[in-house]
Amino acid sequence: MTAAELIRSPQVEPSILSADYSRLADEVRLVLDAGARVVHVDVMDGHFVPPVTIGPVIVEAIRDQVHEAGGVLDCHLMVERPERQVEQFASAGADSITIQVEATPNVDYVVRMVHALGCLAGVAINPGTPVEAVAELTGEVDFVLCMTVNPGWGGQSFIELSPCKVRRLREVLGPDVPIQVDGGIAAGTIASVSQAGATLFVAGSAIFHADDPAAAYAEIAAAAGL
Ligand code: DX5
Ligand code: ZN
Repeated sequence: MTAAELIRSPQVEPSILSADYSRLADEVRLVLDAGARVVHVDVMDGHFVPPVTIGPVIVEAIRDQVHEAGGVLDCHLMVERPERQVEQFASAGADSITIQVEATPNVDYVVRMVHALGCLAGVAINPGTPVEAVAELTGEVDFVLCMTVNPGWGGQSFIELSPCKVRRLREVLGPDVPIQVDGGIAAGTIASVSQAGATLFVAGSAIFHADDPAAAYAEIAAAAGL
């Protein structure tokens, strides 16, 4: 499947934010072998959010492994002024790049830049950002990420009002733009946002901090009927 086909089909996306970086290739292989086809890369710059995490070098390190398995790399840029970095991620092998609407005054411009680089473009809204913030982007973006935690750390608690926000976001976007959720997604929370209309589910700690990440992946997917 192409990246566009994968993003337009229901996916549980393991976030490598919570992976064991001393064994990253093994961790990625675990989830690919379990059936994952969209690997979520959480990039943080220490400015948009306090932590600094991973960057293009990690994308470059795992891209061949992911692509050879028929998978894609979904890069979530929690960085200020992402227009300064998107080219690095495209060059490193990103298949989709998501920017935070709060991170630049030039959101539409950056979405067009991501497309010009040959990647799918997502935009993310934080819990405190109204769904109307993406109303003008419906015809431009390939998907919208509705954050279900405040970004910055894995392992946080799912914000209970998220399903309601996903429903309101669906009203703004119309029926054709996939909605992604990210943060606190696990077997016990995924059904609520799936029923609300989300189809892309990012899960980090619920998978990689489990004793058996492959089984955890399968359990989360099953909880959403995938
Ligand atoms: C923002 C990150 C996290 C991560 C998921 O903080 O985007 O939400 O992907 O982390 P878990 O699944 O551990 O909540
Ligand atoms: Zn993310």
